[in-house]
Amino acid sequence: MKTQATTTVPLSAVVAARTRLNGVIVRTSCLESPALSELTGAQVFCKQEHLQRTGSFKERGARNALAQLPSEQARSGVIAASAGNHALGLAWHGRSLNIPVTVVMPRFAPLVKVARCRQFGATVVLHGDTFDEARAEASRLAEERKLTYVHPFDDPHVIAGQGTLAFEILEQVPDAEAVIVPVGGGGLLAGMSTVLQALKPDLQIIGVEPANAACFAAGLAAEAPVRVATRYTLADGLAVAEAGRHTLAIVRPLAHRMVEVGEEDIALSMLRLAELEKCIIEGAGAAGLAALLSGSLKDLAGRRVVLLLTGGNIDPLAHSRVIERGLAADGRIYRFDVLISDRPGGLAHLSSVLAAAGANVTEIVHNRTFAGPDLSRVHVLCTVETRDRAHIAEIQQSLSKNGVELAGAQP
Ligand SMILES: Cc1ncc(COP(=O)(O)O)c(C=O)c1O
Repeated sequence: MKTQATTTVPLSAVVAARTRLNGVIVRTSCLESPALSELTGAQVFCKQEHLQRTGSFKERGARNALAQLPSEQARSGVIAASAGNHALGLAWHGRSLNIPVTVVMPRFAPLVKVARCRQFGATVVLHGDTFDEARAEASRLAEERKLTYVHPFDDPHVIAGQGTLAFEILEQVPDAEAVIVPVGGGGLLAGMSTVLQALKPDLQIIGVEPANAACFAAGLAAEAPVRVATRYTLADGLAVAEAGRHTLAIVRPLAHRMVEVGEEDIALSMLRLAELEKCIIEGAGAAGLAALLSGSLKDLAGRRVVLLLTGGNIDPLAHSRVIERGLAADGRIYRFDVLISDRPGGLAHLSSVLAAAGANVTEIVHNRTFAGPDLSRVHVLCTVETRDRAHIAEIQQSLSKNGVELAGAQP
């Protein structure tokens, strides 16, 4: 099916949004990161949108849409289906503009986001097990309660609001050569492309989406939104099954390029951003760095590249689990299973071999019951801190040289 009538977003709408947002949205910094430049080979600048008051750039579109509501609609209030940053942006700015906000979230929505939306004064309705069920309920409630539905990405006011980010980048890094934009439904990409193509057409615009939810590239190829099968992604803000009709229509004729990123690169990027930039960035916000690290943008070596750190809303426990996975992917945590002698001194021998190899043990499980029929041996599951993959190889060699049999390495 070809795209039907679509709304365009003229540059003037983004200019007007900028005036509307002035003073109510943080002008976040966009500084060069020497550490990320060294790591990636590009000259990397980080736009710190995770430092907006609700922790993401989504406030821009939400504020721009709310600020233009006719007074009667503003009095009745708005509704959205969102389990994340759009909901937080609406809740925060709805409160400041005195517009009642209702958010429908699936029942499994993270408690922290439910709590924060309520804290900002929004009415939160938990409904359904899937996002589609929540969206259907939001449409039903919109009709029943006469509320205005604010789409998270396929709304011209939202797209224009997100586009304001591009003006700041042009001012902050006037000689930027490329900008990498995380893509969910494409509101941010559509808004930014509108501005950048008009004002700096030689700047490369690169959209990045998780391989596990690559609906935007699929929609571009099909020339219309198509529903793709999604799998779990750490970049939950980009976990969209169908791109927007307006966003696709806006982006398609403009010069751009799309890349996909895998989960391991997203986890590794979150680790690098925490370690090198001292930033807590959610999976969606780390997708741009993941694209640089994945090797699919080698042509950007030596170029001035702007990364959009679009959000930082992640539960601390989830963040620490991702960091651990990132450390494992980086060869800095190693878990392995060995068979050792079940005689006094067996465990001491293992720990002395590990100590001599410089591996710091963080966890050890000694298992006699499930060690098989040979009663003279036991299984030991070890987790150790390591420097890198070369260090892991040294440890493996040292274990085998000292008669410790490796039964298996764990991912
Ligand atoms: C942190 C973050 N980055 C990027 C995006 C992608 O935005 P869009 O859906 O407009 O493509 C989202 C969407 O919610 C997000 O939360």
